[in-house]
Formats: sequence, structure tokens, C-alpha cells
Amino acid sequence: MGNNRNVVWHHTSVTREDREGLLQQKGVVLWFTGLSGSGKSTIANAVEKTLLQGGRPTYLLDGDNIRHGLNKDLGFTIGDRQENIRRIAEVSKLFVDAGIITLTAFISPLRQDRHDVRQLLGDRFIEIFMDCSLEVCESRDPKGLYKKARTGEIKNFTGIDSPYEKPINPEITVGTDKQSVEDCAGDIVKYLSQKGFIG
Ligand code: ADX
Repeated sequence: MGNNRNVVWHHTSVTREDREGLLQQKGVVLWFTGLSGSGKSTIANAVEKTLLQGGRPTYLLDGDNIRHGLNKDLGFTIGDRQENIRRIAEVSKLFVDAGIITLTAFISPLRQDRHDVRQLLGDRFIEIFMDCSLEVCESRDPKGLYKKARTGEIKNFTGIDSPYEKPINPEITVGTDKQSVEDCAGDIVKYLSQKGFIG
């Protein structure tokens, strides 16, 4: 932990509200959570595309990509996953402050970690549960990782030998093994509109 005793918070003259006024939207995080292969990236991409077509500034933070850069020093122990989520929560907070509709696609398997993100972001946090059974995720196996996890080539794989804790009270649940990508994305965009994040 760093020592922040001699660091003082500076208030900026341009505020989030100023930026939101300019952009005609509210900064918010759409936090997708679910097993590997449950459709987080697919749905997040579809939502982002729809928003972009509607003239909305967005940004997608995706686990696989962030782990190539900012978080390339982290693996898949519980502690590393926790640090992964903590950093993304802080990055998301900056994007929200910039007035951007931010989408995050991380397994984020633990309730406590997601609870901490909620605490950090307050009413700008929307938890979206990708409700998809392990059987379906495993049959999709888009990256061939479940197969490797089953043979023991990969350790600590979520759903196999590492836990996934389902959200208890997410703002949105999408059944990606029952609904089409377009329907799931449509539900999420509708929610943003109903709650006044977009006009
Ligand atoms: S999280 O648990 O820390 O939120 P994150 O979403 O960043 O995970 O990364 C998950 C992605 O990393 C998976 O979609 C998969 O492609 C890959 N991966 C590699 N090893 C593992 C593992 N042991 N458990 C889960 N995902 C893994």
C-alpha cells in the first residue's frame, strides 16, 4: 500500500456534470458478470454498437484485452482476480467521471469484489448477470479453455476448480442461453433509457 499522507485531492474546475451536459448522457458502468463463454463480450459489443449508432460515447473494458496491458502482471488466483477487479473499478470510475457509458466484461466471480465495485460507483453501477449454465458455456468453449481445465492443463478455472458466485440482486439478468444477442442488448439499452442515463 502506498503512503498518501502528503497527497491532497484537487478539485477540478470542469466537473462531471459539465461533461455530462455536453454529452447529453450520464456516465455509468454496465458491469457484465458471468462464466467464461457466457456471452459477456458478445453482448457488451452488441450494446456498444447500438449505443454508438445512437450517437453515444462509450468505452468497453474487456478482461481478455485488459490482461494484455494494464493487468498483464495478474493471474487467476483469488487475490489476483480481486486486484484485477479493483483496478478495473477504479478505471471505470474515471470513465464515469468523464461522462462515458462504460461497459466492463470480466468474469468477476466473487460477490464481495462486485459489492466493493458497487460501493465505489454508487448509483452509477449497473450489474448485469449473464445467466447461462456451465453446461452451455462448456459446450460453447469458444477458446478451448474448458477442455484444458478438465484435463488439468489449466488450474483455477472458473466453474471447474475455482468458484463463481451468482449475483443475488443484479439490476439486469439476461438469459444468454435462451434469448438472442439482439434481445439481450435491446433489454440493456432500454434499461438505460428508462432510468434516464440516456435521453
Ligand atoms: S476475472 O475472474 O479476473 O474477472 P477475467 O474476466 O479478467 O477474469 O479473465 C477471464 C478470461 O481469461 C476468460 O474469458 C478466459 O479467456 C481467460 N482465462 C485464462 N485462464 C483462466 C482461468 N483460470 N479462469 C478463468 N478464465 C481464464
